[in-house]
Parts: sequence; structure tokens; C-alpha cells
Amino acid sequence: MTCHTRTLTCFFLCCFLSTLAPLATSKTALRAPPSPGYGSRVITASLEEEEYASFRAENPEWTFNHLAVDYRNGNVYLGAVNRIYKLSPGLEVQVSHETGPDEDNRKCYPPRIVQPCGEPLTLTNNVNKMLLMDYRENRLLACGSLYQGICKLLRLDDLFKLGEPFHKKEHYLSGVNESGSVFGVIVSYGNASPDMLFVATAVDGKPEYFPTISSRKLARNSEEDGMFAYVFHDEFVASMIKIPSDTFTVIPDFDIYYIYGFASGSFVYFLTLQPEMGGGPTAGSSSAGREQVYTSKIVRLCKADTAFNSYVEVPVGCVSGNVEYRLLEAAYLSKAGANLARSLDVAPDDDVLFAVFSKGQKRRPRQESQESALCVFSLRNINERIKDRLQSCYKGEGTLDLAWLKVKDIPCSSALLTIDDDFCGLDMNAPLGVSEMVRGKPLFSDASDKMTSVVAYVYKNHSLVFVGTKSGRVKKVSCGIAAARRGGNAAPPLHLPTVGDVIGAGRNEAS
Ligand SMILES: *[C@@H]1O[C@H](CO)[C@@H](O)[C@H](O)[C@H]1NC(C)=O
Ligand SMILES: *[C@@H]1O[C@H](CO)[C@@H](O)[C@H](O)[C@H]1NC(C)=O
Repeated sequence: MTCHTRTLTCFFLCCFLSTLAPLATSKTALRAPPSPGYGSRVITASLEEEEYASFRAENPEWTFNHLAVDYRNGNVYLGAVNRIYKLSPGLEVQVSHETGPDEDNRKCYPPRIVQPCGEPLTLTNNVNKMLLMDYRENRLLACGSLYQGICKLLRLDDLFKLGEPFHKKEHYLSGVNESGSVFGVIVSYGNASPDMLFVATAVDGKPEYFPTISSRKLARNSEEDGMFAYVFHDEFVASMIKIPSDTFTVIPDFDIYYIYGFASGSFVYFLTLQPEMGGGPTAGSSSAGREQVYTSKIVRLCKADTAFNSYVEVPVGCVSGNVEYRLLEAAYLSKAGANLARSLDVAPDDDVLFAVFSKGQKRRPRQESQESALCVFSLRNINERIKDRLQSCYKGEGTLDLAWLKVKDIPCSSALLTIDDDFCGLDMNAPLGVSEMVRGKPLFSDASDKMTSVVAYVYKNHSLVFVGTKSGRVKKVSCGIAAARRGGNAAPPLHLPTVGDVIGAGRNEAS
């Protein structure tokens, strides 16, 4: 396959890159910044050639965490520390909505707005952790870090607060105050029933309070009592997965970081980065000096599965030129397009997943490697691998193999049944882990400037991928363009409004 790369030296911070593709493709996928803890202070939009509008918050400490663009009119919603903004397509402020700071303490559970709290309260910032467009109800779902992670429902027109449920356990998503820790996917079942919200979150050592992944009722009435209630919950079964507290005895700072999520066909998927559990009881003094190894995984659930028996997770990664890239930085769902489809052996309309990984399996904040690779996965291929494993497990082969869920060594049980593409699990052999890694097809790798974000769309049969780098550059990678057509009119101009950080290396400034 041929891929061409062009670097645009426009110094953009790339946290928000993926929010732009909805404008190009009229799709509604939105995503979080790829890494927690890095905020941008300025966003810019290129209006016409060489002309930019920009927006800065009135307080430089209110860094920007998430961005959502209404594909119907180009309005921009910005989730920042302590504020939610609505901006015009030209980035003029239309409304701002205050979310903080307020007196709080992360140890107050339940939060002090529900029950008096004995912990010392301090003025605490409200970091925006999730910003989702709810097109059906014309509202914005904005979840923050204050009060154990409660959410507001704001009217798209004027950010009027339609609801803010906070009096029940399920209203607290998690107390983490890092902006890239939560990912949500809204799933529709047609007009007859209300939508559902799949929420996946880091739990910051509190697995007893917060499920790492769950499905919630997204009531049409923003003030309804059952807003965010678990889709199903009885004494034994619930639409959630909790990390067992035993897992934290083995790895005290265990957590699952959710990098991306989307719905496709009858499934919901999340892409995660999680510490590897290692091969046995290695806890204790010796583990302290050892470097933690991480694995990237794709998690799949059936949209309609209220008991979460369909949970399957599969390691994903990429190998290019004998180098393993296994630390997921960012991902984006797109269509294959005719040209890429041919080399992946899928249909042009099939979903493909573009993913950026950095080298190895160890995260070293200090001497971090700059080496990264852009890879593509066919979702059909991932689904086939999951089906194969479900079929072999239901023949009694192997174990459930999910170390962090404490079901690693439980043998699969055999049962006589037909497992087709849409199988959603039974209360046996679930949840299931697949041990063998699914490898993406490498498209492009770079050793000097780490890629940290990605978006893609199809233009005249070509897949166009834009990656953002750590130093604030945008690279355009066009795949499947025949060499003869290179240049000329084969590469379309960049018509997207671009959003980024005019300061440039925003991420470096943060450290
Ligand atoms: C998040 O919480 C930690 C510890 O409580 C604090 O040091 C940090 O400043 C907080 N981050 C933000 C963005 O408020
Ligand atoms: C896209 O691919 C299809 C099928 O291969 C072909 O019929 C069509 O002409 C192509 N369109 C363009 C703009 O190249």
C-alpha cells in the first residue's frame, strides 16, 4: 500500500484534532484529548486562506479540555476548567456557563452537596471530563470533576441548565480530575425508546464506588429521576463491570484508561490502555522497582446486552520494521474508502479504525520515546477474531484469560450452540479475554516527533488521515493513492477549519 505524508507546519496542539472530522464527514463522533492532564489555552479556526480567528479564556488557568462541534451549524462547544463555552463557527463567544470553582474535597463521598463532609474543604477547580452532543434532545452533556464527577445537561441554544442530577450514587461518574479519563458513547434504539449512554472511566483506586464501564439510561426529560440509572440492576446482575478490589492488592495503582470509544453495527467499542497483571503473585517489595508494562486493548459489548455478558477484550498493537508499537495514544473510526478497502480486503463502506501507538509497552514520563506509528485495523477482522475465540471457548478450549478481572484461570466451559456474528454472550464464559494480539497494518511511522492524535475521512475513494504530533504539527497521510497520481489534483487541499494552539508546544509547557 502506498501512503504519502505531508507535514503542515502550522503549530497546532492536537488534543482536539479529532473533533474536526465531523465537519468534513457529517458524522457525530466526538472524542477526548488523547492524554490526561494536558490543556490548551487557545483555539484557532482558519476562516479563509491565511486568516485565523482565535479564542482564549479570560483566565489562562482555565485550560481547554474538550471540544464538540455541532455538525448542523458549525457551532463550537468548549469544555474548559470551570467553564463551558458556546462559540460561533468564527469563534466568537455566544454564551459561557460557569461550572466552578467551588468548595470540595475529593475524599468527600458522597459529595458535600448531598451530605455534610468531615474533610477540609478547599476551593477546587472543576475540570471538564466529558462533553457529548445529544442531538436528539438538543442538549449538551457536560461532566466535570467536582463532587465525584457529576454531570450537567445544558440546552444547546443558550447553555441553559436543563438538569444536574447529583443525589444518587449513579450520578457520580468518578472523582478523577484528569480530563482524558472518561469516555462516553450515546447509543440510540430508534424513536420508541430512550437513548443509552455507555460510560467508561478510570476509577482512581475506588472500584467500590465507580464501575469502570457501565450503560446508563439517558432520559429524554433532563430532570427525570432515573437519569443515568444503570440500564439494568438487580441483586445479581447489572449493566456494569467493576474492577475487583483484589486487583489493587497486586497492582496498587491499577486503572483502566479509556482513550476512545464508538458504536458500530450492533456493538459498542472502547479502546483502553491498562497495566499488565504479570505472571503470578509478584506483589511486594520487588515489584516497586520494576517498570510497569502496559497493554492496549479493544473492548467490545453488544449495544443491547443489559447484563454485560457480551464483554470481550482483545489486545491490539502494531509491528513495523521489527519494532513493536503497543502503547495506544489515539484512535479514530472511519470508512475504508475504495482504495484502502482493496488493500485491506474489505468493502469501501466497512468501518476501519486508525490508531496511533508509541513504541514498546512501558510509559516513561521522563525519557519518553518519540517513536510512534500510525496503523489501521479492519473492524471486520477484529470481529472475526472475537468470534473465533468465542467459538473455541464454547468448545471448552482455554481459559477466560482476563487477569485484572480475576478470571484468568477459569476454564472455558463447553456448550452446544451456534455462535454467529451477533452473539451476545451467556452467563457462562463471560467476560472473556482474548490472549493473542490483533495487529494493525502499519501506514506510517516516525521516530522524531511523537504522534498524539488522529482523524480521518474519505475523499474521492482515498483515505485521508491527519495526525497531530506532540510538538504541535499536523501531518496529512494519504493512503492508497497511486504513485502516478501523486501531486496534481490527487491530494485535496486542507479545507477543514483547524483548531489548535497558537502557542505551539502546549504539551511541553505543561510538564
Ligand atoms: C487534580 O488534583 C490534584 C490532587 O488533588 C491537584 O494537585 C491538581 O492540581 C488537580 N488538577 C487540576 C487541574 O485542578
Ligand atoms: C471510486 O471507486 C469506484 C469503484 O472502484 C469507482 O467506480 C469510482 O469511479 C471511483 N471514484 C473516483 C472519484 O475515483
